[in-house]
This record gives sequence, structure tokens and C-alpha cells, in this order.
Amino acid sequence: MSAVLAELRTGNAPFDVERVRADFPILSRQVHGRPLVYLDSAASAQKPRQVIEAESRVYESEYANVHRGVHYLSQVATEKFEATRTRIAAFINAPDENEVVFTRGASEAINLVAFSYVAHFLKEGDEILISELEHHSNIVPWQLAAQRCGAVIRAIPICDDGQIDMAAYAELLGPRTRLVAITGQSNALGIVPPLERIIPMAHDAGARVLVDGCQAITHRPVDVQAMGCDFFVFSGHKIYGPTGVGALWGRAELLEAMPPWQGGGEMIARVGIEKSTYKGIPHRFEAGTPAIAQVIALKDALDYVDALGLDAIADHEAMLLDHALRRLSEMDGVTIVGTNPAKASIVSFLLDGIHPHDIGTIVDREGVAVRVGHHCAQPVMARYDIAATVRASFGLYNTLAEVDALIASLEKTREIFA
Ligand code: ALA
Repeated sequence: MSAVLAELRTGNAPFDVERVRADFPILSRQVHGRPLVYLDSAASAQKPRQVIEAESRVYESEYANVHRGVHYLSQVATEKFEATRTRIAAFINAPDENEVVFTRGASEAINLVAFSYVAHFLKEGDEILISELEHHSNIVPWQLAAQRCGAVIRAIPICDDGQIDMAAYAELLGPRTRLVAITGQSNALGIVPPLERIIPMAHDAGARVLVDGCQAITHRPVDVQAMGCDFFVFSGHKIYGPTGVGALWGRAELLEAMPPWQGGGEMIARVGIEKSTYKGIPHRFEAGTPAIAQVIALKDALDYVDALGLDAIADHEAMLLDHALRRLSEMDGVTIVGTNPAKASIVSFLLDGIHPHDIGTIVDREGVAVRVGHHCAQPVMARYDIAATVRASFGLYNTLAEVDALIASLEKTREIFA
């Protein structure tokens, strides 16, 4: 056990989970007369007071439209808005903040790359490699773009334990592979693919790599330069920030070559009736009024996570996952889906003879919030020939006692069905 975990257990923790919990107002509420046990952070994380207050503060004292006004408030709002771009660049170690494009979330960021890069630069017969682990957001945009340019989508299979089949990946990579789009961590199973091998292999084959960092960014430090990817996307709401905002990071030379994908205010240099010219990056990709307050408050979320430290968060969540896997393995009739040890913060499982939706409904009556279903990853379910799983996903505010509450609620579910 790491020193951090040992200290956590003795209560002398640099990462004091009870103090962290006090920052999240919603965690003190009850559900169905029971204390809330929120184990659905992979779907969306709860927000600390610092983020909630930051968003209110914008509307109370800092709000105006950005990049448009000479007046005082517009300048304040613009400075704060751009400060988040700088903060994101530092958070993911991007070489240049102009490589950070604000989007509505990771899905929109992937759509941006699909329509502005793939549909524009790929040709008939070029190949896009995705994996069977992907979230629908890292599948469907490529399908839509491929329909336009004639590219072909091929899937890297996963092994029985949920990890990427690296031998199959090596076979699939070829001279037609132009893009590999891969998750940094499966939202459905928690499996962490070996990006440190996947990315260089793609580059050796002459392909670009997009990493869907939605889950990965909340559980361990991200350094896009060390990772070596070409595009990286994430959503604010999964990293304890507001909804409606996310970001695309891309290498400057790629973004600069990509045409705008949405037209509107603020992305132009000059507009005539028949023809317009566009701003440089990143503003060329940011048409219309953005999610101003949400973008500004996203900086507070990143500051919050940074102050706790992603290494300490990762240790804490690893402790929760270990405990959950051990307690689940002690129960009869539990099947864990995705058993590869390279796994973080998420456990997906089945209980013999009980449909996941029934489990989700019964544990909810005990105050326990889990996600049940296909988790927007139907190809993963198809791989295991199942329709759904129960998924418990942990965030920085969860406790060992909450894992025990999950197990108790599952025991109760089994008694009801016995
Ligand atoms: N992608 C989110 C999840 O995994 C919604 O639940």
C-alpha cells in the first residue's frame, strides 16, 4: 500500500476524503430517506462549492459577452474566459494555449475533428481505426465523416479480459490507416489501454492519433506531449466542472490546416456576402457565443483537482476500486466484466439471474446511485453478448464505507430475488 493510502487509513491523510466531501453540497442530501451514495461519477461528476460559486460569481459580477466589447465587463469576462484556456493548456501540458479549442464537450470536440480533419483530408479507402472499447461518441462521428469522404472504419478487437488485443492492432495497422481514435480509459469497463504502445505504433504506420480523454483526465495526470497523441478531447462535467463545456487539444500544424466546421460570429476575419475569411486558431473553431460562465468556472474545477493532486486522487480511487473488486469477488454469482488489471475507478458487473435494471432500481431505494445499461458503449456489450451491466464508478469524494453500502444494497437485492 502506498504511503498516501496508509495515511488515508490512519486519518492523517494529505488527501482527507471527509474534508473533500464537505466541499460537495449535494453529497449531504438524502435519497429515498437514505444518505446519498453517489457511484455514477463516470456519467457526470458532482461539483464542489468552489465551482458552483465560481459560476454564480460570473453572473453576479463578471458577466458580459466575450471577445466583442470595449467596455469594462466585456474585458473582464474575456480575460477570465481566456484564463481557462491557459489553465487547460497547463493542465494537460500543451505546448501552446492556442492549441486549445473550447467545445460543448468531448463529443463536440470529436465531431470537430471528424468533420474538419477526417471528412476534409481522408479519401476513399483510407482507414480509421477505433476499438471495440469506445464510447458511442468515439464511433458515430467517424461513421458520419466516413460517409462523406469514403473512408473505412475498422475496429480493434478486445480480449476476453477487456484489454485491447495488441496483436490484432498490429495486424490492422497498415498503409491505409490514417487515424487511430482510442479511449484513454473505457467508460464502460474502466480498462486503461496501453497508449504508450498504441500511439507510437500508429505513428510508425503514418497515422494520426486522437485520444478520448473523458475518463482518463479525471483519474491521473495527463501530459499530451509525453503521451505523443495528435488530438486529445475531454468534457468539463466529468472533471468536477460545469456541463456544456469541454475542449479539443490538437497540434497547431494540424489545427491550422483544418477548415472551420461551423460558421458564425467570432470565427471570422472578414465577411462579405459571398465569401468570408477566418480567424486563426483557436477562434476559427469557436463560432457563436460560447458557454461563458461555464468556461470560466471550469478553471476553478481544474484548480480544485490540481490542489488535491491527481496522483493522490488516483491512489485514493485505486484503494476504492481494490476494495470494491475484493468485496464483489466474495459474493456468490457476481461476474466482473473487464478483468484486466489495467483498470481504474470503474467496475462493471453482473449478478446471476437478476437484470441490471432491476438491480439499479433496488439499490437506488437504498440511496445508491449506479448506472445500468449499455453505458453508451454497445459494441462492448456485443463483445460479451450481453445487453447491459451494472456500473459503479468512483470519484475523489467516495469512501470505503460507500463501497460497503453498495455491497449491502446488492445483498439486499439478492434477498429480494431469492
Ligand atoms: N459517457 C457517460 C457515461 O459513461 C455518459 O456514463
